[in-house]
Amino acid sequence: METHKAHCLIFPCAAQGHINPMLQFAKRLQHQGTKITLATTKFFFKTLQEVSGSIAVETISDGYDEGANEVPLDTYNAVFQKVGSENLTELILKLKDLGCPVDCIVYDALISWALDVAKSLGLRAAAFFTQSCAVYKIYYHVYAGLLKLPLEESKVEIPGLPPLLASDLPSFFSNYGSYPPIFQMVAYDQMKNIHEADWIFCNTFYKLEEEVIDCTSKILPIKTIGPTIPSMYLDKRLQDDKQYGLSRFMPMTNDCMPWLNERSTSSVVYVSFGSLAELDAEQMEEVAQGLRTSNYYFLWVVRESESNKLPKDFVKETSDRGLFISWCPQLEVLAHKSIGCFITHCGWNSTLEALSLGVPMIGMPQWIDQSTNAKFVVDIWKTGIKAQPDETGIVRRDVIHECISVVMEGEKGQEIRKNADNWKDLARKAFDDGGSSDKNIKDFVSKLIQS
Ligand code: UDX
Repeated sequence: METHKAHCLIFPCAAQGHINPMLQFAKRLQHQGTKITLATTKFFFKTLQEVSGSIAVETISDGYDEGANEVPLDTYNAVFQKVGSENLTELILKLKDLGCPVDCIVYDALISWALDVAKSLGLRAAAFFTQSCAVYKIYYHVYAGLLKLPLEESKVEIPGLPPLLASDLPSFFSNYGSYPPIFQMVAYDQMKNIHEADWIFCNTFYKLEEEVIDCTSKILPIKTIGPTIPSMYLDKRLQDDKQYGLSRFMPMTNDCMPWLNERSTSSVVYVSFGSLAELDAEQMEEVAQGLRTSNYYFLWVVRESESNKLPKDFVKETSDRGLFISWCPQLEVLAHKSIGCFITHCGWNSTLEALSLGVPMIGMPQWIDQSTNAKFVVDIWKTGIKAQPDETGIVRRDVIHECISVVMEGEKGQEIRKNADNWKDLARKAFDDGGSSDKNIKDFVSKLIQS
């Protein structure tokens, strides 16, 4: 008798930093024999279809099919919940009528109402955490009223986490007054119905966040399934599709690869601040001057929308050492032998990629969870240092120059590199056959089939 093929509907939040890890997770489930349907908004539908391989993609309207740039977040969320819930219900019933009933919805924890839809239809549901376990533990702590906002203390003690300064918390909490209340609410509302989820997956690996996972497991039974980067980057013996995911910014060019091939080992500083962060002109000037005086080769990702903030003539003046690109194949770049360190905003995907590929980091966190990620990179995982901003919040050129020297040359840099190699090895082990993440994925699939 043919084994029942489980069918998962994977529903990421409509943002690159969320879609890509969940797309990779979908591909891993498919590799284990699970039928997958990906659901996304009309905005990402076409680009997601181009990178989803043989996975079917369906659309869920968020009520703003012509784009929602000018819509306030609270209005957008309310409309998305109403229209999205109706659309998600219709999609699940349509798939059932087509003879492909959904067994489980794997939803982005940011779309907590998807769990309510699943339960209303008698389906199981798995929450998917796209950031670190530590960050979700903080969200949970705030949601449970164990951490009052605005913060009254400059130091914060949360079980399972190292002692944190207020500035190490996600920016919506540490800079409470600088964001509309909706931002804090979106962060901790992910927890409001989390106990009804049948599984909670997180894009991390057990050894990386062992203490917070063990301490949290009774409240949040988190199953680690990361790092969700194509296995070929974790283990060269494996050949899977290089296509990591979609990119909001086209064209994704490979122009930088021939340039990197001409560079010697660990001789290049790679600089990228992700898909959302917008540095101001003063900060771009300081980064530029720090790169100029450090005298290393550098590859700097400057998105089209940011290029006008670069100092005049800087590109021309540093053309002998610097290469600027609007968007690059970051995994290919981080895996390249010439990369000596990564100046990063510490977005979770970039952080996990650098850890998994053994690249030392210089953290310049901007907002959201980036300060928390930077704290762990520097003090817990010890694979980088933080470029400390001054009292105005700007990281000065001499600080950037100093950080590059420390990581690229110094004794501390050697220790950081050794730690980076160790985490790279542990990331691969988590993903290898029988590894912690591999086991959690296989366990999920077998439970789905049994039902
Ligand atoms: C957002 C938030 O900013 C981040 O804090 C949160 O943890 C996830 O959602 P983003 O800012 O885009 O993410 O940063 P990050 O999480 O690092 O994701 C960036 C992704 O874009 C990475 O997967 C990276 O590989 C990719 N990238 C970046 C490219 O493919 N090419 C580039 O040139 C730059």
